[in-house]
Amino acid sequence: MSEQTLVFIKPDGVKRGLVGEVISRFERKGLVLNECRHMMMTSELSDAHYAEHIERPFYPGLKEFILSGPIVVMVLEGERAISVVRTMIGSTDSAEAAPGTIRGDLSLSKGENIIHASDSPESAKREIANFFG
Ligand code: RTP
Ligand code: MG
Repeated sequence: MSEQTLVFIKPDGVKRGLVGEVISRFERKGLVLNECRHMMMTSELSDAHYAEHIERPFYPGLKEFILSGPIVVMVLEGERAISVVRTMIGSTDSAEAAPGTIRGDLSLSKGENIIHASDSPESAKREIANFFG
């Protein structure tokens, strides 16, 4: 079943010049890039996107980081895209993420972990609407 998922490259990934590396992994996998935009996250968009984390102790630091530079946000489509992309990005803590995954190959950090991807069909629908209306 073809699905759509919302992905963004976080400010660390954009600053480090990893946009092409990340998108090319998804293209080689066979996922289709339906939307793609280079933009600044806003305070309102961050609070909406991370609604489930707003009360967590790490959220102020996460918000400061996510507003610290441009992101590249995209919609990827393909067979079982939501779980396929989550597998490709790896565990939240990059130090523990498996080699071969984006975080496992390209980062050592838990907070500055290069990429976001929707974690369920409900999240994907909500997040795509947040960014692309
Ligand atoms: P994401 O939402 O960015 O795709 O990452 P995720 O599902 O793997 O992780 P999640 O639990 O949703 O956390 C969202 C983002 O918050 C930052 N974080 N920092 N310092 C910490 O303990 C901590 N925990 C989470 C990370 O940037 C994580 O990706
Ligand atoms: Mg998450």
